[in-house]
Amino acid sequence: MASITVQSHLVLERILSIEIVRVTERAAVSAARLRGHGKSKASDQAAVDAMRRELNKLPIDGTVVIGEGEIDEAPMLFIGEQVGNKQGPKVDIAVDPLEGTTLCAKNMPGAIATIAMADGGTLLHAPDCYMDKIAIGPGYPKGTIDLDAPADENVLRLAKAKGVKPSEITVILLDRPRHADMIEAIRNVGAAVSLISDGDVAGVIHCAEPKTGIDMYLGVGGAPEGVLSAAALRCIGGQMQCRLVIDNEALRERTLKMGIKDAKKKYEIEDMVRGDCLFAATGVTTGPMLNGVRFGKDVIETDTVVMRSVTGTVRRIVAEHRQFEKFHLD
Ligand code: FBP
Repeated sequence: MASITVQSHLVLERILSIEIVRVTERAAVSAARLRGHGKSKASDQAAVDAMRRELNKLPIDGTVVIGEGEIDEAPMLFIGEQVGNKQGPKVDIAVDPLEGTTLCAKNMPGAIATIAMADGGTLLHAPDCYMDKIAIGPGYPKGTIDLDAPADENVLRLAKAKGVKPSEITVILLDRPRHADMIEAIRNVGAAVSLISDGDVAGVIHCAEPKTGIDMYLGVGGAPEGVLSAAALRCIGGQMQCRLVIDNEALRERTLKMGIKDAKKKYEIEDMVRGDCLFAATGVTTGPMLNGVRFGKDVIETDTVVMRSVTGTVRRIVAEHRQFEKFHLD
């Protein structure tokens, strides 16, 4: 592609929002070939390879700030890796080429390939650790939720802001023993709990999708997934607060090296995504947000959602791919 000299924000707004769809589509197709094969690492690697190959075709001077891990543990799409053809704007990139590796390995609903992109220096450089998170959808006054308040109090606050009884609130959490107390507290005030086995990027986004019936996301999940979902909410609205879970010295040092001085900082969306961004996800297996890849006789069909924060536009792109040889490279 020819060199692009227009301003970076314009490129981000208009061109890359379509270009990044190819990136998640290819990653999703590559992972989907291994759906149900019980090989979470292999499907993740297939998605990583495809995503990296497509990213390197883009007219960007990109830095992976959320990736597959640090350089010593991830040969590709590691944190700090430079991607793109360098003929475009400096951008920060957060990737999760296969979000829900176990979902894909078991061919269960909700595995996606996902990416967020923003101007250089504007995405939080978070280590691959846990993150405490709370999120709700758009339309509520600022301060409706507070990460430091107990789960039941957050449910009561949200019910009041929504003008409904707590029994009409549904909270989504990862199904993990660490959430047992929270789940009990939520149920004790009469609210419903929706449990997911994996995939909390979509879990957070569900709060902003009325059709899902989900009002709030709560609990501890991955920090990379936290930044990716913050990018999505930056585009479509909603509130989110997060805090890194730094529970050992080695992690504290890694975090410091990444420039995070206050390990206990409570992040709002604007702290994790400090400017305009793009977010895209393609379904690998069919879930509430996206259909999975469908392999037809002569066509591969993909289902992608792509969002731009500048306008809040959400595009749903169902693509029929007929040039199979391109995908056979994956
Ligand atoms: P992977 O795709 O890396 O397997 O992550 C899936 C996931 O469920 C994330 O969505 C979530 O943030 C994280 O794992 C939770 O971690 P854990 O499984 O250790 O509780």
